[in-house]
Amino acid sequence: GITRNFSSSTSLNAIKTVTVVGGGLMGSGIAQVAAQAGQNVTIIDVNGELLEKAQKSIHTNLTRVGKKLYKGDAAKVDSFVKESFDRVKVSTKLEDGADVDLVVEAIVEKLDVKQELFNKLDQIAPAHTILATNTSSISVNEIGAGIKRKDRYGGLHFFNPVPVMRLLEVVKGDETSAETHKAMMEWGQSVGKTCITCKDTPGFVVNRLLGPYTAEALRMLERGDATKEDIDIGMKLGAGYPMGPFELADYTGNDTNLFALGVMYEKTKNPVFAPIKLLENMVKEGKLGIKSGEGFYKYNKK
Ligand code: NAI
Repeated sequence: GITRNFSSSTSLNAIKTVTVVGGGLMGSGIAQVAAQAGQNVTIIDVNGELLEKAQKSIHTNLTRVGKKLYKGDAAKVDSFVKESFDRVKVSTKLEDGADVDLVVEAIVEKLDVKQELFNKLDQIAPAHTILATNTSSISVNEIGAGIKRKDRYGGLHFFNPVPVMRLLEVVKGDETSAETHKAMMEWGQSVGKTCITCKDTPGFVVNRLLGPYTAEALRMLERGDATKEDIDIGMKLGAGYPMGPFELADYTGNDTNLFALGVMYEKTKNPVFAPIKLLENMVKEGKLGIKSGEGFYKYNKK
């Protein structure tokens, strides 16, 4: 087995077993970073085929990570991949994943579906289990409105791709206890992330700031102030960003961008998030970005 050394400041009720509900893009990444860190993790998804896909993508990604970590040592790479992969269990039954220290929800971005899941988890999980949502755009408090253990509930907002992006936003709900917040922060660190704390506000920290930035880049393009190529070069070389706003928009997906801006406009009424014709038209034309083969730029479809 694996021995884990916790520093003296680590709470006794540290999280050691995790379930991720939803084995899509985000859920499979969250499960992977937990398994890599030596934790046993169960992925639950309603769709059995997607679970197989998740396992495949986790195996591929673990191999990539292993090769980076252990360069030429093939035996070490193999044992890293095998040991990490063996810690990942999958199931289509929620009950199989209920008896753990932490459940992270990463299912569809729909309030009623998430509420139903949390109400069920609240009933079947042991009292000590912390429940968390990875939602990007729905209020953490609203998702957990029907649960009793509001002190052991909050948000754990990861970034795509989870194994690569180093940040985790730890979102405090109205009733999240200090102990729960501490346990979530420590767990985030244990899976290799740098954690920041934020309140349950639209977009939390990162997306709330990326929204106006992306929106103004789109308006610059609409007004014809500069070309998209020049705007991207400008932000990379002038502001030190790793991608320009249009490269990032294509990566995230323009449907997602339109949705996120819409939610923040609805919730804040701040005109910086107001609808942008150019973005609406791109989505109507199916120019979603990398995933559809064309967005602001053209891509070779995989
Ligand atoms: P996805 O569509 O790739 O995966 C969602 C998975 O949940 C699917 O495999 C689906 O079968 C499963 N599912 C749906 N209903 C379920 C239920 N009731 N029980 C169990 N499984 C169920 O979606 P993705 O992109 O992974 O997003 C998941 C969550 O993460 C959303 O809340 C989203 O807002 C959030 N998020 C997404 C980010 C992104 O860049 N895609 C970034 C950060 C958060």
